[in-house]
Amino acid sequence: IDPIKVKLGNGSDVKGTRVRVFGRVHRERRQKEVMFITLRDGYGFMQVIFTGPLAKTYDALTLTRETSMEILGELREVPPGAHAPNNRELHADYFKIYPGWKAAGGDEAITNRVSKDTEHATLLDLRHLTLRGETLSKVMIVRDAIEFAFNFVYKELRMRKVSPPALVQTQVEGGATLFKLPYYNEEAYLTQSSQLYLETCLPSMGDVYCIEKSFRAEKSLTRRHLAEYSHVEAELDFITFDDLLDHLELVMCRVLEVTMADPTVKQYIMDLNPEFKMPDRPFRRMKYSEAIEWLVEHNIPNEDGEPHKFGDDISEAAERKMTDIINRPIFLTHFPVEIKAFYMQKDKEDPRVTESVDCLMPGVGEIVGGSMRMDDYDELMAAFRREDIDPTAYYWYTDQRKYGSSPHGGYGLGFERFLAWLCKQHTIRDCCLYPRYFGRCKP
Ligand code: 4AD
Ligand code: MG
Repeated sequence: IDPIKVKLGNGSDVKGTRVRVFGRVHRERRQKEVMFITLRDGYGFMQVIFTGPLAKTYDALTLTRETSMEILGELREVPPGAHAPNNRELHADYFKIYPGWKAAGGDEAITNRVSKDTEHATLLDLRHLTLRGETLSKVMIVRDAIEFAFNFVYKELRMRKVSPPALVQTQVEGGATLFKLPYYNEEAYLTQSSQLYLETCLPSMGDVYCIEKSFRAEKSLTRRHLAEYSHVEAELDFITFDDLLDHLELVMCRVLEVTMADPTVKQYIMDLNPEFKMPDRPFRRMKYSEAIEWLVEHNIPNEDGEPHKFGDDISEAAERKMTDIINRPIFLTHFPVEIKAFYMQKDKEDPRVTESVDCLMPGVGEIVGGSMRMDDYDELMAAFRREDIDPTAYYWYTDQRKYGSSPHGGYGLGFERFLAWLCKQHTIRDCCLYPRYFGRCKP
């Protein structure tokens, strides 16, 4: 009978049958007459046993990690105490290593069995190989599941996905982090956010979202800033600021629920972050002015080492201390006009502040930035003047305020930051395939 070709992970439940598997040697171990191989194929791991003459073949005796193999044999159930993945092992009766499939061997840097003193830069240069390690590959698999969950949840909310351009001629989040590039005979930028384009879709498409790359020429090396990152952005029409906060809380919690519904993904998340608990709802809501008081009470200084005062930016360090102490998601709202972007709607009751929100998570800090948008034409023009931005290039954006304006708002969620929080990764550099940041553009 032809053996069934199976993937190695959960679900390929064909115990007692003869199967054919393909994969790479993740680990290998020899005991006198027996050889144990942990085979890996990206869907999971399988313990394979070579006994008798099979264990004594030249290819078995010289087998190196990462070598690709085809193996045939019988799948047998083993008790949970045996530490075999999915409580089963493959008793091989045939294997083949095709020409070119052998790995050189000897290089420990390819997985997360690297020695403690391997330089971080070296590991990043070898990203194409460290990607085969268990931690990074689990994070990447969780990442795929979360992206699917965002799409799923947005569809539940009847939102439409669009794909705005990456090459633009307008800035969104300040000139300091713009990547400029020659564009035929003109100058263009890599987009910092798709927000302004999402706003133009509302009148005819209803509530919209996108999952696109954003680019920021960040000059500081921090564990939560990339030059190229994935940005989940959404824009909602005819809403209030409270609607925006409720929506955001719902989306984040529902995305976690949908993600956790996949048992393999749930297992990976728990492996990476054993303390993970679903966040309690409602999230804590705190105004910027209350946060300033809180920081003063807790003796957490501002960037000049002085006590915080109204109008100060809350630094990354202060933000992190705050989230670590409060230890639950926080919606920080109503930031002063001066420290926020030009497009943010002012609060009707207190025009010193904006209808803005940052969502802060323990361990990471800000993972979402959002706001209601200025919907009045004259007010928007005044905001451009205040920020010293020439509105000419924004004609398509300002036109929205001439052709049927509406109360609307939205947000951007840093996808790698969300993952870093969920998978408890120290840096968001380990939450994307090939991180790009100041000083690194390879592999
Ligand atoms: O707070 P930001 O700058 O807000 C905007 O771009 C809005 N226009 C989004 C919108 O309303 N549609 O960025 C949003 C989020 C941040 O909260 C952060 O999580 C992430 O994007 N982010 C970065 N992530 C990685 N590397 C960087 N350099 C990032 N800059 C921002
Ligand atoms: Mg922000």
